[in-house]
Amino acid sequence: DEGLHPPTHPWPHSGPLDTFDHASIRRGYQVYREVCSACHSLDRIAWRNLIDVSHTEDEVKAMAEEHEYQDGPDDQGEMFMRPGKPADYMPTAYPNDEAARAANAGALPPDLSLITKARHGGEDYVFALLTGYVDAPGGVEVREGLNYNPYFPGGAIAMARTLFDGVVEYEDGTPATTSQMAKDVSTFLAWAAEPEHDDRKKMGLKATIILTSLTVLSIYLKRFKWAPIK
Ligand code: HEM
Repeated sequence: DEGLHPPTHPWPHSGPLDTFDHASIRRGYQVYREVCSACHSLDRIAWRNLIDVSHTEDEVKAMAEEHEYQDGPDDQGEMFMRPGKPADYMPTAYPNDEAARAANAGALPPDLSLITKARHGGEDYVFALLTGYVDAPGGVEVREGLNYNPYFPGGAIAMARTLFDGVVEYEDGTPATTSQMAKDVSTFLAWAAEPEHDDRKKMGLKATIILTSLTVLSIYLKRFKWAPIK
């Protein structure tokens, strides 16, 4: 059972030359931090990755420092705890998979770093999943501890609905409706899966301009050189 096909949305970053909406990445980070990170990790993202993407360097330093990391060994061979630095990776929700499963009725909340690449439909799927919780249709039995969501393959998902209007209060004043938060966190996760996305598209634009100019130039030169021979 494949799950309902998610509707396709015109993401601001979908076009071949379009870069991410960085204000949306910033709001999406807030949703991730305040809601999703209670259960999901983001293994491939270090604090420093947010610098000049969604936050300033000073903000990122302060955010990292709010978390404690194990380091060491020191001169005495002891491990010790220290405040986080921009080079540290995002903290995990649980110490290990067993603890994660134990807290989620046996289901493992997947790491979200590459979720928009790993799942068919990408950010459209994540958006549809987060906003797609509905009552199970008549005749469909959902096992205790699972939730009906037609976008999840099989229709019964261990993750309950987590986004409700107003669960976060956006610092930029954007009304935090369920769909706004789903859009922002999906954008944030699309960025997390491809942090080099904007540079790639800017390089593509440069390459296109240069190659087009060279092609035009070579056509002109060819015509010019061969003109006397005709
Ligand atoms: C699964 C996203 C919050 C627990 C998932 C999946 C996504 C996702 C994309 C994968 C579905 C699939 O495998 O195709 C998010 C986002 C969140 C969020 C963006 C925040 C807005 C939470 C929270 C919890 C949680 C707060 C725990 C209370 C789980 C679990 C699964 C899961 C247990 C595995 C479901 C299963 O395999 O049945 N989540 N999640 N999630 N999530 Fe979340």
